[in-house]
Amino acid sequence: MKKTIIITGGAGFIGSHVVRRFVQNYPSYTVVNIDALTYAGNLENVKDIEQASNYIFEKVDITNAKAIFDLFEKYKPDGIIHLAAESHVDRSITNPLEFVMTNVIGTVNLLNAAKELWKEDFSNKLFHHVSTDEVYGALGSEGLFTEETSYDPHSPYSASKASSDHFVRAYADTYGLPIVITNCSNNYGPNHFPEKLIPLCIHNIIHNKPLPIYGDGKYTRDWLFVIDHARAIDDVFHKAEKGATYNVGGFNEWQNIDLVNELCRQMDEKLGREVGASAKLITFVKDRPGHDLRYAIDANKIKAELGWEPSVTFQEGLSLTIDWYLSNDEWLKNVTSGDYQKYYTNQYN
Ligand code: NAD
Ligand code: DAU
Repeated sequence: MKKTIIITGGAGFIGSHVVRRFVQNYPSYTVVNIDALTYAGNLENVKDIEQASNYIFEKVDITNAKAIFDLFEKYKPDGIIHLAAESHVDRSITNPLEFVMTNVIGTVNLLNAAKELWKEDFSNKLFHHVSTDEVYGALGSEGLFTEETSYDPHSPYSASKASSDHFVRAYADTYGLPIVITNCSNNYGPNHFPEKLIPLCIHNIIHNKPLPIYGDGKYTRDWLFVIDHARAIDDVFHKAEKGATYNVGGFNEWQNIDLVNELCRQMDEKLGREVGASAKLITFVKDRPGHDLRYAIDANKIKAELGWEPSVTFQEGLSLTIDWYLSNDEWLKNVTSGDYQKYYTNQYN
């Protein structure tokens, strides 16, 4: 079936994998990638599909309501998959307002544009909002986040994402806008910006730099390979009931310190370093304020209802990820020059 889909944030980490999947798997769809190309957006991430006949890129900032309305008028999309966001918790602590602007106002601009364009007939239309497990707050050592868990965000990032989720549901309840929401756990994989734990440590191991572990390193995250997340988004976009929410996770919890030790072990092997060489770089540093102890997703609803589950083990996914960084040193060099150095000095010195 012919369709036009707008994917926001398609030059970022997860968005680029979603764009690639839709361009390649749905040749009858026109995929319009809209992205402001902030520090986290990089067209190199979608270089391999930029010549595809069903792919269009538009550099647009979602905080610009008029530009978004004009774009919706131009392409008349049948579906929106909304990933554009400020996504890094540490940056949200330094600059919360930027997160409100993109994550809240930007989302409302998209909702308004969709509502206006689709107001005569909502059938066969869908606004898919891509969100995070961080909206649920922090778990203790027991339990899992389900779709029924109450919202309890702690960081400016998670508060802005929670707010955007509430707006998306409010547009469904108030105006009947057809929506779905996915709340996913921590992703890892190729094209991950090296401000986040795994790619930051890969980059630092390559350069023999300290591996900064916040607090005691006992914080726990549930890790999912990014290509499995892209498949979950595809499944939900095509198969979910309107109004549904799905949690997406890896059934794969790791304490940060154990994860970084495993990363060091694999990298020593791949770089031909002596056993234990990279782990010597581990350095405990000042904790993140408001640091959530543990996230863990119960992904059984999407598994039971849509048949989705992770396809790679963490060992395989981590190995593929390290290999990607080792063979894409130009990409890594480009994204870690300039402003990255300033960010790194402010954050870690
Ligand atoms: P990212 O930071 O790598 O990419 C974000 C993209 O959005 C970038 O290309 C950036 O240029 C673009 N963008 C930012 N502000 C914009 C604006 N005002 N207008 C247009 N484009 C803008 O983020 P990511 O890690 O790929 O996350 C994508 C989405 O998935 C986010 O909504 C995030 O909350 C959610 N999410 C991420 C994870 C994760 O582990 N990374 C997990 C669950 C959910
Ligand atoms: O849970 C989903 C979320 O996962 C997404 O919504 C976010 O967009 C994404 O950034 C990620 O958030 P986290 O804060 O969990 O990811 P980050 O990689 O920043 O940190 C992972 C863990 O590692 C966390 O406990 C903090 C810790 N950490 C992080 C960095 C950058 C360190 O110990 N040292 C570091 O230098």
